[in-house]
Amino acid sequence: VLALSQLEIPIVQAPLAGGPSTPALAAAVCEAGGLGFLAAGYRTAGELAAQIAELRSRTDRPYGVNLFAPAGPPADPAVVERYRASLQGEAGPLGEPRHDDDAFEEKLAVVAAERPAVVSLTFGLPPAPALAGLRDAGCSVWVTVTTPAEAERAAAHGADALVAQGVEAGGHRGGFDDSAPGELGLLALLQLVLARVELPLVAAGGIVTGAAVAAVLAAGASAAQVGTALLRSPEAGTSAPHRAALARGDALAETGLTRAFSGRLARGIVNRFQRSHADAPSAYPEVHHLTAPLRAAARARGDAEAINLWAGQAHPLAREAPAGEIVRQLADEARAILGR
Ligand SMILES: Cc1cc2nc3c(=O)[nH]c(=O)nc-3n(C[C@H](O)[C@H](O)[C@H](O)COP(=O)(O)O)c2cc1C
Repeated sequence: VLALSQLEIPIVQAPLAGGPSTPALAAAVCEAGGLGFLAAGYRTAGELAAQIAELRSRTDRPYGVNLFAPAGPPADPAVVERYRASLQGEAGPLGEPRHDDDAFEEKLAVVAAERPAVVSLTFGLPPAPALAGLRDAGCSVWVTVTTPAEAERAAAHGADALVAQGVEAGGHRGGFDDSAPGELGLLALLQLVLARVELPLVAAGGIVTGAAVAAVLAAGASAAQVGTALLRSPEAGTSAPHRAALARGDALAETGLTRAFSGRLARGIVNRFQRSHADAPSAYPEVHHLTAPLRAAARARGDAEAINLWAGQAHPLAREAPAGEIVRQLADEARAILGR
């Protein structure tokens, strides 16, 4: 079982579902001495297996795989229908809203066979048999938490480590319940969780500089998990309009939390779609499936105003550079600061 202290560099690449995560990105971070991750979310089990094979061909180092925990009960169809009606003016096709579990059991079987060093869960706790199976396969099981209460539940459930995700983070809030999303900033969350649970913590949310890596390590985290910091690296599969929005940095600097794209609260750079559909319901994954074709069409025509531009609050500082270089620089800067 991988101990976080075994990492050469205490930096974890955030799993980045929806395109940015690639085997090349994970391999580059592993080779730099951090922990690379594959994001299983939205993919089929077959695609996940192929990505793991590609990653294994690029590096022998330990790596992680992130799974979405099975979603809660289906949303009220009337609520979804109302939201669908409100999207009629959007350019592009709408999808069929459906409820599913993101093929959780199929992906669980893939990771139990491939035995990555770490399996992290987001959106909830793994069912107890799933956790036991991953343990038997020799995987460390990490659970994403956004509140001290979630941290206590994950610890009692048997997690090996916690990913403490502050509200600064880009992408979806990773907590257990979308109707009661965690709202704590990362430093407050780290302090509160450390006071209640003994598990190693991986800190996530708004970490884009070595100074921030040093800050979370000083605050008691065992590692820093960075997402937005790597979105502009050439190894990432970030779409062209998403890259362009990140590169504009200052002009489009504001991020906000929204359910407009997926029906689950997530942080992105505020654009027209996000502003226009501020009243989107909590209905995941129904709304994800509803807007998926619309977003694919917008991405294809390069329209950054109609796609999810997931980014953390510190995104204007994200650099365009090879992923390995970014990770090594973060570690060098953090080491220099902590050494002073
Ligand atoms: C584009 C994007 C996709 C993400 N996808 C996932 C995911 O599939 N699973 C997950 O646990 N977290 C996901 N996250 C959240 C990250 O794990 C992490 O909490 C976040 O990136 C940290 O904040 P930062 O972006 O400011 O570094 C995603 C974040 C972004 C920006």
